[in-house]
Amino acid sequence: HESTLSAGDVELGDYQHYMQKEIFEQPQALAATLEMIGGAQTLTPNLFGVAAPEMLAGVRSVLILACGTSFHAGLVARYWIEQLAGIGCSVEIASEYRYRVSVPNPEQLVVAISQSGETADTLASIKHAKALGMGRTLAICNVPESAIVRECALRFLTRAGPEIGVASTKAFTTQLAALFLLAVTLAKQNGRLAPEHEAGHLKALRHLPVAVQKVLALEPDIKVWATRFADKHHALFLGRGHHYPIALEGALKLKEISYIHAEGYPAGELKHGPLALVDKDMPVISIAPNDALLEKLKSNLKEVAARGGELYVFADADSAVDEEAGVHVLRLPEHYGLLSPVLHVIALQLLSYHAALVKGTDVDKPRNLAKSVTVE
Ligand code: G6P
Repeated sequence: HESTLSAGDVELGDYQHYMQKEIFEQPQALAATLEMIGGAQTLTPNLFGVAAPEMLAGVRSVLILACGTSFHAGLVARYWIEQLAGIGCSVEIASEYRYRVSVPNPEQLVVAISQSGETADTLASIKHAKALGMGRTLAICNVPESAIVRECALRFLTRAGPEIGVASTKAFTTQLAALFLLAVTLAKQNGRLAPEHEAGHLKALRHLPVAVQKVLALEPDIKVWATRFADKHHALFLGRGHHYPIALEGALKLKEISYIHAEGYPAGELKHGPLALVDKDMPVISIAPNDALLEKLKSNLKEVAARGGELYVFADADSAVDEEAGVHVLRLPEHYGLLSPVLHVIALQLLSYHAALVKGTDVDKPRNLAKSVTVE
C-alpha cells in the first residue's frame, strides 16, 4: 500500500475532512477538466493526444478497464458510448481481465481509467491488452506522468487536483466529464453527431459546475436523511439505465466510509433476489431522475413500499414522484439528460459522508483500505 500524496501536502482549509473538501471542490474540478473546450462549438479528437485523430478513426468497439470507483465511471460511459456513438463497449474489472482468457480484438480502443494512474491491476491489464496485440490504448488519469499514462498511446488528464480522501469523489465526476467527451468525439468520428447536438452537449458540459453547485446546496437536507439511517446495518441502492452504475457507486461510498453493508442493484432486478431482504430495517435509496425509465422505476418502488421498506428517493425537480408515508423525496435540479449521473452521484457522496460522520468512522482513511493499490 502506498499513497502518492500525504494529507500534509494539501491544506484542509475550512473543511473538517478531505472527503468533504473534495466533494465541495467538484465545480472547480469539473471547470478545470473542461477548460480546454472553452467556448468551442465543436470538438477535436486532439483532446486525447496528438495521435488521437488517426487512432480513434474507425474505432468500432471499446473496452474499458478499471478498478473500484473508476470502474463505475466506465460503466456509465458504456451507456454514453453505445447510445451516442453507436459503438459497442464492454467494461471490465482490471483484475479479472488480466487473468482470464479473452478474445482479443486488435482494432478495439482500450481505455484505462484510473485516478492515481498507479493501480497495479489496471496497469497490468493494459500491458496484457497490449501483449494481445491491442495497440489503441487511452489513459484517463488524474496524475500526469503516472505509470498508466506512460503505458498508453493516448491520454486525457482529468484536472481534479490532488485527491486525498480514500473514497474517490471529485476524481470520479471529472472522469465522467472526460468519458462524455470521449463518447461525443467517437459519435462525431462515426458520423452520428449532428452539429446542433454537438454544440448542445458542449453547452451542457460547460454548465455542469453551476448545476453541481445546486446539488451541493442540498447538503442540509441530505444530512437529515443520513442521521436517519446511520444506525442501520444494511442499505439497498437502486437505479436504472445510466444511473444503475450510480447506484453501485452510492453503495460503494457508503460501505467504504460508514461500514454499513450496502448493495447497488438495477431496479429491474429487485424481484430476482433483493426484494427478499426488504423490511423496515433496510433503507432503500433510489435514484429517480425524470427520464424515460421513471415510470418503470416507480413500479419497482411500489414493490418496496408494499413490503414496509423505507424509501429515500433522489428525484429531479421535475420528476413526478410524491412524498407519502414511508417515501421521502429530495429533489435535485431539473433533469440533466445524459449527464444527470454526474449530479446524482454527488447527492450520494454527501449522504455517505454524513452517515459516516454520525457513525464516527475515519472518513478520510477508512479501515483496511488504501488510496492507491499499487500491489496485488
Ligand atoms: C482504491 C481506492 C478507490 C479507487 C480504486 C481505483 O480502491 O480506494 O477510491 O477507486 O483504488 O483507483 P484508481 O487510482 O485506479 O482510480
